[in-house]
Amino acid sequence: MKVDVLLGLQWGDEGKGKIVDVLTPNYNLIARFQGGPNAGHTLEFDGLKHVLHTIPSGIFRSNTLNVIGNGVVIDPVVLCKEIASISKIGVDVPKCLVISKKAHLILPTHRLLDAASEAAKGKEKIGSTLKGIGPTYMDKTGRNGIRVGDILQPEFQEKYNALVEKHKQLLLFYEFSYQQLERMEFEWFESLEILKKIPFVDSDFYLNNALTQNKSILAEGAQGSLLDIDFGTYPFVTSSTTTCAGACTGLGIAPNKIGKVIGIFKAYCTRVGSGPFPTELNDEIGELIRKTGNEYGSTTGRLRRCGWLDLPALKYAIMISGVTELVMMKADVLSQFETIKVCTAYKIDGKTSAEFPYDYDLARAQPVYTELKGWYKDLTETSHENELPEALLNYISFIENEVNVPVRIVSVGPNRKQTIIRSI
Ligand code: GDP
Ligand code: IMO
Ligand code: MG
Repeated sequence: MKVDVLLGLQWGDEGKGKIVDVLTPNYNLIARFQGGPNAGHTLEFDGLKHVLHTIPSGIFRSNTLNVIGNGVVIDPVVLCKEIASISKIGVDVPKCLVISKKAHLILPTHRLLDAASEAAKGKEKIGSTLKGIGPTYMDKTGRNGIRVGDILQPEFQEKYNALVEKHKQLLLFYEFSYQQLERMEFEWFESLEILKKIPFVDSDFYLNNALTQNKSILAEGAQGSLLDIDFGTYPFVTSSTTTCAGACTGLGIAPNKIGKVIGIFKAYCTRVGSGPFPTELNDEIGELIRKTGNEYGSTTGRLRRCGWLDLPALKYAIMISGVTELVMMKADVLSQFETIKVCTAYKIDGKTSAEFPYDYDLARAQPVYTELKGWYKDLTETSHENELPEALLNYISFIENEVNVPVRIVSVGPNRKQTIIRSI
């Protein structure tokens, strides 16, 4: 068996949670491979709405095991809140969730350092979710981090104290108050006790053994390709590998064990936080997309910036991850427009190019648009591909021809049921 990977192709919030939940019945295991509580993955079914931050989106389907991989960074406080809210609706979490011993822990001081670093950047701030992601990955690569497997070791408290001392020095450098640390630490250590009820596993062996036993695995990405630490719009990115390679390093899966790479994108674009966004619409069209698409952050509630679909960016993300099939989300949100624009190239200093450029150039890039006919029809009740309007099928064909990858699923609403699997 191979591991299929599902990942976002834009700046996050493409609808990964919804589609992982839809696809879960086809898999035995769902494994998150990177990111942490900066993610907010929304699932809607049976009149319920859930936002998951650390727990994989297969958690609500029975007979599925969910793995938090080594590439994920975990804030015990956030994870315990998630466990509590899911347990309330009857999910036996310790039975269907395991955590990698090699996943790194987000300490309360990582969160303070995130806030201190952003405050020090002033106008240049990244727009971080302030969940401690950057500082935790910095400690991981700096070889100072603390991992889930350390929790059960006798020297855990000592390790914790030593790292917090370092962090306090840094906070002093930033002149950032850590008055609230004691309260944060109390909550953090309390959460660790709850976390110990979830099995800590050698997730690399766990997943590879599952493959040997012919179990099917879907790797769930967080964030999006344009937020990748190497290939995203640096420095306005997150601190992990959000592209397909992240599934290998974040789970311990060899590249030759990767099967399908399912890339997910919205029929338009959104972005939360700072950074270049060539097709951004700072007008009433952008506002209309935001309102209809309910484009407000699932984790922070912040406004999402909205704009037309950007094909050079999409092609680039497809290239980096070797995407084999596509999922197009939120087609219903564009139903209100008579015509829809798609960016097919950029004009930079008078030159036209269809390549995704280096960041300084991206900031100056002017989108070159093709205008397509809108479908102007409510899609939210659509349940079969035969019912899709011709103009929408043309929109999809146009994208497929440009990027050379088929669109296998079209999403027409937030609910699990509002999903059309195409037969192509
Ligand atoms: P994720 O981070 O990629 O899982 O995406 P988020 O959950 O942060 O954001 C996607 C938002 O769009 C959520 O509020 C979903 O409920 C919603 N959503 C997902 N698919 C669709 C769709 O096809 N149409 C509409 N209107 N909303 C959708
Ligand atoms: P999901 O998984 C959208 C953005 C932040 C900020 C930048 C860095 O729900 O798609 P960080 O907290 O990682 O240091 O923030 O990345 N960002 C996201 N944007 N969806 C996400 O996750 C995001 N996770 C981080 O807004 O611009
Ligand atoms: Mg999200």
